[in-house]
Amino acid sequence: MQDLNYEVIFPALDHQLEQDEEWIIVDFGNRQRKVRLHDYGAIYRIPRLYEEIFYERLQCNSPEVICDMLSGALEKSGCSARDLRVLDFGAGNGMVGEQLRERGCDLIVGVDILTEAKDAVDRDRPGIYDDYYAMDLSQFDGEEAEKLKQYDFNALITVAALGFNDIPPGAFLNAFNLIGGEGWIAFNIKDRFLANKDDTGYKDTIEGISKDNFSVHQRRRYRHRFSLGGKELYYIAIVGKKIRDVNLSEIP
Ligand SMILES: C[S@@+](CC[C@H](N)C(=O)[O-])C[C@H]1O[C@@H](n2cnc3c(N)ncnc32)[C@H](O)[C@@H]1O
Repeated sequence: MQDLNYEVIFPALDHQLEQDEEWIIVDFGNRQRKVRLHDYGAIYRIPRLYEEIFYERLQCNSPEVICDMLSGALEKSGCSARDLRVLDFGAGNGMVGEQLRERGCDLIVGVDILTEAKDAVDRDRPGIYDDYYAMDLSQFDGEEAEKLKQYDFNALITVAALGFNDIPPGAFLNAFNLIGGEGWIAFNIKDRFLANKDDTGYKDTIEGISKDNFSVHQRRRYRHRFSLGGKELYYIAIVGKKIRDVNLSEIP
């Protein structure tokens, strides 16, 4: 692998930042740039910066954890990854797509709100996805919905993209409704967002769909990554099967 032509400098902080406040300096030798960790567009534009920060330095392991859980659930049910037609929602630069491809999924389609994410996949992981769309599922029109429906998805995977002003609950439910009955649903979310003090709307959303629309097969709390200050950040991963579409008109 080629050496990076920049250095990533972590700030020396005497206090813990919220996850969406974290930032680093990218030092290109002749200039430095401050980048917020949640400014994914800026990060994807710099080759291998996302991998360097989140995977090398902060030891994020979520794509592997969620894909392993999904593989385990498939095996238990006598199903094969080879039969999966997966919608990877909030796909970013393809870390999850890469894991799914290794597991031999039949079809993998990525969707992300950022064109920078699609450009990064084309640049760094060409061929990982069968198709990839820069699209906003919170307000997708009939044409976009039809485009996605044609894939007849039987699995949805969303990794590290719910909460924190990333994917809103409504967009997640639109993606959920693109998956056929008995399709597989796999996602993770910060533990706090499923707790009583949640203000993202996900606690109610996940509890709501877990009654009639979705049966949970596995739920696991695990270390998603370290914070910049070295604190362990815990997420909850959930894998299950869809029962039926969510009636969006009943969602408050
Ligand atoms: C932390 S990254 C995770 C990327 C990838 N799933 C992974 O695990 O490496 C979060 C991604 O969610 C995407 N995202 C945020 N809001 C979104 C939305 N409303 N619709 C689709 N993607 C969104 C961001 O653009 C970003 O690529």
